[in-house]
Amino acid sequence: MPAILEADSLVKTYGNHVAVAGISFSVEEGEVFGLLGPNGAGKTTTISMLTGVLEPTSGTARIGGHDIVAEPAEVKKINGLVPQDLALYPTLSARANLQFFGRIYGLRGRELRERVDDVLEIVALADRADEAIERYSGGMKRRVNIAAGLVHQPRLLFLDEPTVGVDPQSRNHIFESVQRLNRERQMTIVYTSHYMEEVELLCNRVAIVDQGRIIALDTIRNLVGMLGGGVIQLGLERLDDEMLAAIRALPAVSGAARVLAEGPPPASRGEAEAHPPQAAHPGPVLLKIETRRSQDALVQVVGYLNTLDVAFTSVEIFEPNLESVFLHLTGKKLRE
Ligand SMILES: Nc1ncnc2c1ncn2[C@@H]1O[C@H](COP(=O)(O)OP(=O)(O)OP(=O)(O)O)[C@@H](O)[C@H]1O
Ligand SMILES: [Mg+2]
Repeated sequence: MPAILEADSLVKTYGNHVAVAGISFSVEEGEVFGLLGPNGAGKTTTISMLTGVLEPTSGTARIGGHDIVAEPAEVKKINGLVPQDLALYPTLSARANLQFFGRIYGLRGRELRERVDDVLEIVALADRADEAIERYSGGMKRRVNIAAGLVHQPRLLFLDEPTVGVDPQSRNHIFESVQRLNRERQMTIVYTSHYMEEVELLCNRVAIVDQGRIIALDTIRNLVGMLGGGVIQLGLERLDDEMLAAIRALPAVSGAARVLAEGPPPASRGEAEAHPPQAAHPGPVLLKIETRRSQDALVQVVGYLNTLDVAFTSVEIFEPNLESVFLHLTGKKLRE
């Protein structure tokens, strides 16, 4: 499959602040591609550059072979954008809002009416289409927002956190719409979220974004596979290097490292084993344990700590999923 999107070293800075620090990735035609990252990671800024809302500070990207800066009109025809913030007229009906967006794209007359009916169907709002949207729930407004990004039949749809503040029913409608657009209309979708469950459900491949960079990019299966058997995080009243070495040597443990409560030291990115030995920590510490199988590892670690009479202050188990991949890569949780 050819790439419909190729981003090459995109950078966006605001004064001294680097919002996107050089992002490169490509999306193949027909994929549902995830951009997963915490608040402020740079997801919206990346999408804004790819859809012509923001000009990159440096770097380039091509959409359907067209340069995003040199050929904005071509790119606009291919792209559909569903922004994170709603852009709708509250006193108008869903239908009138969608007609407005259709006209911006040059649709008129019967074609416009048919396109609006079609997108209302896609987001399951055909029966409420003529009510003013100020009477809609938050989730229904989001669905109109999605429909607005679809009126001109884009080949590539960017959905920016489409389920934030949405009721469970609308959330399910949104998931179904995404899956149907992809399967039935072969639409390529770039889906940003900080909900790893959504990305796991919808996406084939995912780029994990943190602090303006892609820190991992692969299929979900491969990303999760690199962890082995899940991660355990233990709060302990004390931890010295001897204890750390003994825990690393337990058969179900594949790695163990101290994690600071305020966030990781720079050296904690990457392999846990790569940590240089540190002096004994005086107070309570967080210990991150990568396991071959979390249950076995927990039993072994607890057994060992009991022989030393060390008290626990907390225990958390992260089964192998994108959340634990993120924790593994950054030492942080996706949602604090
Ligand atoms: N117009 C702006 N001026 C200055 N800084 C900005 C501007 N827009 C975004 N930023 C900063 O750039 C960084 C990336 O923001 P961005 O909105 O792209 O993150 P995000 O991953 O979409 O986060 P969220 O999950 O909260 O939507 C943040 O630190 C943000 O404060
Ligand atoms: Mg955002």
